Amino acid sequence: MIHIQKTDPELYEAIFSELKRQRENLELIASENFTSLAVMEAQGSVLTNKYAEGYPYRWSKKTGQINYKLYGRYYGGCEYIDDVERLAIERAKQLFGAEHANVQAHSGSQANMAAYFTLCKPGDTVLALELSHGGHLTHGHPLSFSGQLYNVIHYTVARDTEQFDYEQIEALALEHKPQMILTGASAYPRRIDFARFRAIADKVGAKFMVDMAHIAGLVAAGLHDNPVPYADIVTTTTHKTLRGPRAGLVLCKEEYARDVDAKVFPGIQGGPLMHAIAGKAVAFHEALQPEFKAYQSKVIANAQALAKSLMNKGFKLVSGGTDTHLMLIDLGPEESGSPSGKKMEEALDLAGITANKNTVPFDTRSPFVASGIRLGTPSVTTRGMGTSEMESIAELIKRVRDNHENEEYLAAMKADVRALTAKFPLYPEL
Ligand SMILES: Cc1ncc(COP(=O)(O)O)c(C=O)c1O
Repeated sequence: MIHIQKTDPELYEAIFSELKRQRENLELIASENFTSLAVMEAQGSVLTNKYAEGYPYRWSKKTGQINYKLYGRYYGGCEYIDDVERLAIERAKQLFGAEHANVQAHSGSQANMAAYFTLCKPGDTVLALELSHGGHLTHGHPLSFSGQLYNVIHYTVARDTEQFDYEQIEALALEHKPQMILTGASAYPRRIDFARFRAIADKVGAKFMVDMAHIAGLVAAGLHDNPVPYADIVTTTTHKTLRGPRAGLVLCKEEYARDVDAKVFPGIQGGPLMHAIAGKAVAFHEALQPEFKAYQSKVIANAQALAKSLMNKGFKLVSGGTDTHLMLIDLGPEESGSPSGKKMEEALDLAGITANKNTVPFDTRSPFVASGIRLGTPSVTTRGMGTSEMESIAELIKRVRDNHENEEYLAAMKADVRALTAKFPLYPEL
């Protein structure tokens, strides 16, 4: 960053401080990860300079198929840009076994918007997971486009198991006859049965969309069922378990391909962020390597080790554990005298541990306060930590919980957190 350092010391200071924070703190936010230097290099490349509205192909009027020989851009000078986008598309298709990939979505939310616009009309009924039970804002929150344009009915997890109850989901589908069923989550620690969802959708004649943002890396490594064979459209972010740049991706069956392309551009976006698309191409290439599968196996093993250690120390986990990269600590209701999610997030922060508050199923506190903490292992696994470090992390979290009112104690704990992170240097090249 020698250039920013010289020309803009104020901004340099902020970026450098963030690097220092990432290096020194324990990063347990389940939706974050540390990309490779190659991903960051692609994002910081000259590709940021190029306008490339359109696609690296055109839909042939004659065959109705994609034709890479036809120029599909609204700007000149896209010959190398086309190579970049084509590589990203082909790698995404290979990675997930998809018939079509649109790599232009700027974010997960925009990928979701393109999927809704392809599969539904405004006013249609959509069945999706309730936000406070692990869903995402774009799955029907009233402040999101999804809640404003569609009649969203929400399913929840079951009270006893805190897991999906497919009978309840089927009963809701039969009652409300949605045009689309959506699954996928931001805070659901268990395996999702996509075949079962497809069967429910077929029973009521609904389209089926999957938002696999959180689990895409696990899916790419073959460690979670792949929704692509079952869903009409699958969306994802590329920056969570997939460990790519901050961006989105839409995968679909051939029959929706042209419509998905039109919904992304010009439907909801203008020029693609070609530097981000190059970052996606790098990440997909990395995800196709055998080391990526080994990494994802460690992410899951670490999540299971952390979950077990936390439970051994008396923490209650939503659904009693995890099958994925994330888990939710249920700190208990207000009456129990335990800290709220908000209080615990602040206390963890003081000790140098980064995590986020989260509602737990049937939470009695508001989402701004919440009764849970969401934890994920992708970032700590990327920096090399293993199951024995998960034991230490569980102990650190317990110390924070037991001393959450004692700011001095928490500040002193930072030294212990730093001693742990220092053993796993992050971005030593920077
Ligand atoms: C399941 C799910 N879908 C979509 C998104 C939205 O992604 P973005 O923040 O890139 O818009 C998220 C982000 O947290 C998510 O967890």
